[in-house]
Order: sequence, then structure tokens, then C-alpha cells
Amino acid sequence: MKTYRVALIEGDGIGPEILREGKKVMDAAAEATGITWQWKAYPYGADHWVQNRKGFPTLVTEAEMAELGTHDAVYFGAIGDPRVPDSVNQAGLLLWMRFYFDQYINLRPAKLYRGVSSPLAGKKPHDIDICFIRENSEDFYIGLGGRFKGTRSHDELEMRRALCKARFDVDISLEPADEMGYQIGAMTGRNAERTVRYGFELARRKKLTRITLIHKANVLMKIYDLWIERARQVARDYPDIEMELAIVDAATMWLVRAPERFQVIIAPNMFGDILSDLAASIVGGLGFAPGGNINPDRKAGVSMFEPIHGSAPDIAGKGIANPIATILAGQLMLDHLGEERAALLVEQATEDVLAAGKVRTPDMGGRSTCRDMGDAIAERLLQLKP
Ligand code: IPM
Ligand code: MG
Repeated sequence: MKTYRVALIEGDGIGPEILREGKKVMDAAAEATGITWQWKAYPYGADHWVQNRKGFPTLVTEAEMAELGTHDAVYFGAIGDPRVPDSVNQAGLLLWMRFYFDQYINLRPAKLYRGVSSPLAGKKPHDIDICFIRENSEDFYIGLGGRFKGTRSHDELEMRRALCKARFDVDISLEPADEMGYQIGAMTGRNAERTVRYGFELARRKKLTRITLIHKANVLMKIYDLWIERARQVARDYPDIEMELAIVDAATMWLVRAPERFQVIIAPNMFGDILSDLAASIVGGLGFAPGGNINPDRKAGVSMFEPIHGSAPDIAGKGIANPIATILAGQLMLDHLGEERAALLVEQATEDVLAAGKVRTPDMGGRSTCRDMGDAIAERLLQLKP
């Protein structure tokens, strides 16, 4: 019997409610397939920061971060609370975790399930079914840049990753004097290559035939020419899979006009951030959008699974949040752990409940609670048990 040790981080706002239902469905999946979970809850969120970390730039200490890495996976609710600066939650936890554990893939599938309506007219279930892969550790997310007033500035900046360490000495002279802010985007060849290769491998595993590579090389050519060159090299190893290039603005239009043409999308970090929210909204909204921050090498770094929405403080504690995104994030976690059968059961049970249309949370136009949804999916999963 396989046992998986998973760190649970409920976080803030609706985090505890949605993660409770996610865990409930994961427990049902374990019961159905004979695996065992060893859950360990960590209290990281606004209360933790106010009580223990107030004034510090990160939500957790490095030792606490490292401890998360001793688990087989991290299952995450959501963070965000008015008491905590955004930078603490972002640079001081979410982004840090991505870099610290070399979670260079952000997997954000967008699928239109039966029983869910798309804001796009005339879309039938599964018309939209996109494996969305966002590069998760470089590009304009490396957090390097500067800001100054006057005519001169000098910054020594450093990017540290599992793959490399890069130093930037930036000397700027500005005439006439003014105020300036700048932000560096950078990409390394090896990271571009491994990200694209992950996409091709996923396409092959799912028997998909086309990959769309997002870029903006017509304007930002230093960074995205490299991205495209590395992708073309990788594509040679997969003659059975077509790779098309799409400039991000055109891709945005096509995602609305004809999303059914996309099978796998591979996007650089920042464009992937933006496009994945669009992809989520055309399959019913953020309530249906899971994400996995993945290091495909489980020995090299732990992966983290979360809904891509935030902590929604306005509806926190009312029990009306939609837990589907969290439950589907659990499906991604099972897949990552190699428990494909359990992952399929979670997806099937979720879709069956959505298709039946009896349990609908307020975002779907219904009156069901977060708990009703979790209960219904867990119950359905146990009925499906093979
Ligand atoms: C996301 C979020 C994060 C991002 C923020 C909260 C740092 O928008 O996961 O998409 O920009 O990556
Ligand atoms: Mg985002």
C-alpha cells in the first residue's frame, strides 16, 4: 500500500473551506484505490505572519520552506489578507516556493466540463480542452530591476536558480534627469528547453497532436528568439507532434474566437499568467481552474498544487466558495504522484456531479455550499470505485 506524505496549507480567506473539501475528495480517492495519505497541516497565512513574522519580508523562514520539501507534495488553499503586504505573500511565499523547489512548470489545464456553461456562445462540453503549460521560474518574473531618480544608477542584481546563477551589473545614465524604473526579463536556454520538452512529453502521453508556442519575438526578440530556437530543437525529437508559433496578442484573440483549436499551449511566464486567467474564464471561471507548480523530477524538488484563484476575502467564511478548482488541483497532484487511476476517478466524479446539475455553488447560479459540492463529489467517487 502506497503512502504519500502531503503538506496542507490552508492559508487565508476561503482557503480553509476549499482545502477541506479538496482533502475530503482526496481521502475518498485514497479509499477507492488503496493508497494512504499522511497529511500534515502547516499554519502559514495571515495569522501566522501577524503572530510570528510581522515585519519580515517572507511568510515563512527558510527552514520552514525547506521542511515543506520533505513531503511528497504540497496541497495549498489560497493566501491573501489585508493584514499582510502582497509582497510577503507573493515574493515571500508563492514565487519563492516556485524558485526554491525549482517548480519550473506551471500546469493549468482548462477544460469545459459537462454541466458548466462557458461565457462564449455555442460551446459544448469538451469543445475547450487545453493543456496549458506556463513556464514558471524565469522571464519577467525573476524579480530583478531597479528604480531611481536623477541621471545615474548602478545596481548589482542576482538570479539564483537550481540550473544557474546569473549576475547583472546594471549601469544606467539618463539624460535629462528624471525618474526611471526598469525590470529585467531573462531566459536561459536550458530552462526553455526543459519546459518545452515537458510540453511535448505531456502531448505524447495524452496522444495530442499539436502544440502552440506563445511568444512575442516580433518585439522582445532577445528573449523570445531564444525561446523559439530551443523549442524548434526540441520539436525535432517529436516528429509526430506539430508545433505552431503564436504571437501572444493573436493567441489572445484566438482563445476567445476559436478556443477549440488549441490542444497544448506552452507560454512564457508572464504571458502564461495572463492567458491562463483567460483560459480559466472561458471554461466557467476561476472556480474551475486548478494549477500545479511542478518540478517533474520528484526527487529534485517538491511540487505544489492549488486553485489558481485567490483567497476571496469577500466571501470567506460563508461556505459558498466553489471547491472544484481545489479538487481538480488534487487530481493534478495524484497524476504527479503517478496515481493515474485515482486522478481519473477524481475527474470523473467531479464531472458527473457537475453534469447532474443538482449541486451548484452560487458562482454557477445555484445555492449549494462548498461542503455540499465536496460531499457530492466524494460520494460519487466512491460509487465509481472500480
Ligand atoms: C498566479 C498569480 C501569481 C502570479 C501572483 C499571486 C504572484 O497571479 O499564480 O497566476 O503572478 O504568478
Ligand atoms: Mg495569475
